[in-house]
Amino acid sequence: MRKVTHQAISEELSKTVLLPCLFTLRPTTGSSHEPPRIKWTKVWGQRGSDGLQKEQSVLVAKDNVVKKAFQGRVTLPGYSKNRYNASLALTGLRSSDSGLYRCEVVVGINDEQDTVPLEVTGVVFHYRAPHDRYGLSFADAMRVCVENSAVIATPGQLQATFADGFDNCDAGWLSDQTVRYPIQSPRPGCYGDREDSPGVRNYGNRSPDELFDVYCFAKQLQGEVFHSTVPDKLSLATASTHCHSLGAQLATVGQLYLAWQAGLDQCDPGWLADGSVRYPINVPRKNCGGDDPGVRTVYNNPNRTGFPDTMALFDAYCYRGTESCVMRKLIWHQCGNYHGNGV
Ligand SMILES: *[C@@H]1O[C@H](CO)[C@@H](O)[C@H](O)[C@H]1NC(C)=O
Ligand SMILES: *[C@@H]1O[C@H](CO)[C@@H](O)[C@H](O)[C@H]1NC(C)=O
Repeated sequence: MRKVTHQAISEELSKTVLLPCLFTLRPTTGSSHEPPRIKWTKVWGQRGSDGLQKEQSVLVAKDNVVKKAFQGRVTLPGYSKNRYNASLALTGLRSSDSGLYRCEVVVGINDEQDTVPLEVTGVVFHYRAPHDRYGLSFADAMRVCVENSAVIATPGQLQATFADGFDNCDAGWLSDQTVRYPIQSPRPGCYGDREDSPGVRNYGNRSPDELFDVYCFAKQLQGEVFHSTVPDKLSLATASTHCHSLGAQLATVGQLYLAWQAGLDQCDPGWLADGSVRYPINVPRKNCGGDDPGVRTVYNNPNRTGFPDTMALFDAYCYRGTESCVMRKLIWHQCGNYHGNGV
């Protein structure tokens, strides 16, 4: 049996990826011209006590009969032309699609395996203006995303995030000037246009002067985000100075979400560059804001409007770009991903 492992393929949320699977097996001369059997499987997670990882069938094909799982999002685009082309296309990429894909090809008694690691990049987040709920025109919505190391999200990106489990009852602008929000469990005040079935609610195209929140999309972290503090805690201004003293600056909201997606977990509210106070939770636990993983936002009153007073005392989340990170690696041989208290 021949085994090949490809380099990781990385593609953005909601896009389409082609996972290559090329094999050398050919029908043995003399035998009946049996077509190859192709099987794609997703493998992920920690090895259990039996030494095995979780597996999920993605697609099986033989003799032009293709059986698909995976919510109908997979095809073999080269297969109808060439039975020996098993490359797999996966559309509408979700974060949960990240993992290892195995392609097995069987011809007679011979078999070959390819494995392809896939990484789906980028994260969608809800953003509210610092002063008020529903305070952003369409132009403001696009601007605040950019100020937070992101761009306004597309409907496809919000849909992919919904499929990953995102639930948020705040109507937000999207790139096509529509206003939508993702609801997993319908409840009073969040029915929108879909009553009590789960799905993305859509208010349709809106006038650009109307005011809503926004959904932003952050693509990739170009450095590191780390939590830091001092014994007496920090105001917004001293938090900013503190990050500077560590060769960094206050992180933006988009940067914190990307760090959260990469695994940052810290149950300590901290200042960010826009004057908001948030903290990233990957392992939900008591007194850390709810039962689901996510970035928690501290709003300053029961109506969930407005960010804390700038003199209030919290920790800080700092961001250091890749360049200064490379410098530190050269000088101090260190450039960890996430560690408290800077250097
Ligand atoms: C296999 O199919 C894919 C998708 O159509 C195509 O891009 C690729 O070039 C094909 N490869 C070969 C070796 O035919
Ligand atoms: C919350 O909203 C209600 C109704 O709009 C208002 O009466 C109240 O003053 C608000 N509370 C705060 C703390 O802003």
